[in-house]
Amino acid sequence: MQITSDLALADRKQLPDALRVLLKDFPRDAWAGHPNYSELIAFWLDRHLMFRRLMERLSLDAMSALDHAIEADDYRRSLAHAGGMLLRELHGHHQIEDRHYFPVMMALDQRVQAGFELLDKDHHDIDGLLGGFADSANVVLSVPSSDKNAFRDAVAGFRHQLLAFDPLLLRHLVDEEELVVPLLLKYAPEQFR
Ligand SMILES: [Fe+2]
Ligand SMILES: [Fe+2]
Repeated sequence: MQITSDLALADRKQLPDALRVLLKDFPRDAWAGHPNYSELIAFWLDRHLMFRRLMERLSLDAMSALDHAIEADDYRRSLAHAGGMLLRELHGHHQIEDRHYFPVMMALDQRVQAGFELLDKDHHDIDGLLGGFADSANVVLSVPSSDKNAFRDAVAGFRHQLLAFDPLLLRHLVDEEELVVPLLLKYAPEQFR
């Protein structure tokens, strides 16, 4: 199948039907009970869960800072920790997927091969968005504590970036899981047990 522009991360609502062919035989609620559900699959899904939780925490903390429910310096410490972790871990995760996981996976089944091109494009889009995420987080971290208006504007700006980034990251994680896990359950390649 052709990867067309309407399948871009910002535009799609789910994987196209042609790439959901294995998902029909391996629905999400049956993954964990399948005999080929490996430690690696569990570990990989757990990384995705960590990214979802970090996004939730960043979002809740930004709201708390805007509502004055946490001190500015406490918020900054939390943002530096959670934001830095998200950037580092997501970057490393994409590198492993692009270099080690996807080349093996895309050879397993011709029918879903184009899906890996789609996921690779997603990674590039996400990398671009992470640039804006890092820049706006750095504004929050560098604005003087004494300037309450500038601090509030910086947090609002960062939250705006988060709100734009969150649905795209979640879309990528869900689609990637729905492409990759059925493939690994069906073929159980030695590298991913
Ligand atoms: Fe990914
Ligand atoms: Fe991933």
